[in-house]
Order: sequence, then C-alpha cells, then structure tokens
Amino acid sequence: MAARLTLRDVTLRFGGITVLHDVGFEVEPGQIFGLVGPNGAGKTSLFNCISGHYRPNSGSITIDDAEVAGVRPSTLAKHGLARTFQHPGLQLRETVLENVMLGAHTRLPGGPVEWAARLPHTWRSERKLRAEAGTLLERTGLGWAIDNTADELSHGLHKAVELCRALMSKPRLLLLDEPAAGLPHSEVQQFIETVRSIRDNDDITVVIVEHNMGVISALTERVVVLDHGAKLMEGTAAEAQSDPRVIEAYLGKDEVDDAA
Ligand SMILES: Nc1ncnc2c1ncn2[C@@H]1O[C@H](COP(=O)(O)OP(=O)(O)O)[C@@H](O)[C@H]1O
Ligand SMILES: [Mg+2]
Repeated sequence: MAARLTLRDVTLRFGGITVLHDVGFEVEPGQIFGLVGPNGAGKTSLFNCISGHYRPNSGSITIDDAEVAGVRPSTLAKHGLARTFQHPGLQLRETVLENVMLGAHTRLPGGPVEWAARLPHTWRSERKLRAEAGTLLERTGLGWAIDNTADELSHGLHKAVELCRALMSKPRLLLLDEPAAGLPHSEVQQFIETVRSIRDNDDITVVIVEHNMGVISALTERVVVLDHGAKLMEGTAAEAQSDPRVIEAYLGKDEVDDAA
C-alpha cells in the first residue's frame, strides 16, 4: 500500500545557519509530488531529514502514522522508504544487474553467513532476485546494459540504475533527488514514462526533486516550492510556474549567481 507522508514545522540548523525553517506539507498515498526551488533552497536537506540521514532540530515527519524524524535509514527501509541520491554511488566495477540486486538486501532471507555458504534456499532466492532485477532494467529501458559494468554508463544512466536499485526494496514511498539531471534529452521521455508506470503499477508514493520543469509538469499532481529553506508556495506545477514569488526566487538566484 502506498504511504502517506506528512511533514509539520520541520526545522534544521547547522551551527548558526537555518537550512530548513518550519516546512510542512502532506503527500497523499499514490501521489507524485514535486519539490522544487533554486539551488541551495534546502531540497536535498529535506530529503535527508525524511530518509533519516539528518535529524531535524524540531518538527514532525510521519510515514502513515509512524513518527520517523530522527529514525535511522536502516529502520526507515522497514517503513517502506527508498531513495535515490543527487550524486549516485554505484559499485563502478560491478555489473548493472549486480548494482540493482544490491537494493534487495532488506528482503533477503537469512543472514550474511547463510549467503556466503550459498545454501539452496539462498541461491533459489538469488535467482528470483536476479530475474526481478532484469525485469526492472528492461522496464526502465536499460535491458541492453544488464551485463555492462557501471563505469561504462553515463552519469545520467547511473541515476536510472539507482532508481531500479531503489525499486528492488519494494518501497511504498520513493524519494528521487534530481533523477533526470544529466539524462540526455532523448532519454527524458522514457524516464517520465518509467516513473508513471511505477506509480500506476507498483502502488508507490513518489516525491521528486527536479529542475527540469517539463518533467515536473508531466509527472506531478502537486508541488511545494522551497526558497531559502522555507516553503514559498504549494499548488500545481502550472500554478508554481506562474506564481510571481516563484519567478522572483529563481530570478533573484540568477542575479546572485551572475554576481558570484
Ligand atoms: N551537512 C551540512 N552541513 C552544513 N550545511 C549544510 C549541510 N547540508 C546542507 N547544508 C546547507 O544547506 C543549504 C541547502 O542545501 P541543499 O539542501 O543541498 O539545497 P538544494 O538541494 O535545494 O540545492 C545549503 O546552504 C547547504 O550548504
Ligand atoms: Mg540538492
């Protein structure tokens, strides 16, 4: 069952700097929800709070009815959470298939000792997971790359592999941090279709951080715009794009970038 994600008044500070300031929103089960905003707005930090990599200074984060603020990432996997990173960390010398299979570690029966001994029930489940990983890669348009080592693929395709790896844990809530960044233009449509089919077939709630507004418009039902760690507005992608405060936030950022 897809998860409901609720954030209330999430505040995160590093030293004297407030990175997130009283951020709150609710993502309905099965929604594709966008999180947008200029660089440095706090999008990745917010993901890090949800995924347990950062502990917010105050506020509440719930997955369904469970309070998860400050809960460790390994425990969050049990609540059905999976994520991808802005800078994916694949095992570069392993094949694409092996990288994807790593995502299933939370589902493996027995412990590492049983796996090392390769007992019959472990290799039976390994074979099943191999088939599952292969199917996911096919679905994502990466079937051709199954036996390539990860270092043979572009940065953009690493994100697609990481998406398959995240799906191997059979999440109910999936966080994607700039999944289309670095994808060649020709791959973007395939990516959009992949995320749609994940949501439609796998009963997952998806939160996506993405700068490509074409991707955000095509995929999301709702977006929150963050600026300087605070929520600027919430609405549809179209409403966000025409909101003067959002336009100003992006333009203001460009001026800062130009001056830098
Ligand atoms: N571990 C950290 N220590 C100190 N500052 C951090 C840390 N993580 C993020 N920040 C700061 O938080 C702000 C928001 O960064 P980030 O969440 O990466 O923004 P975005 O993903 O929207 O570009 C930045 O100013 C960044 O320097
Ligand atoms: Mg980021």
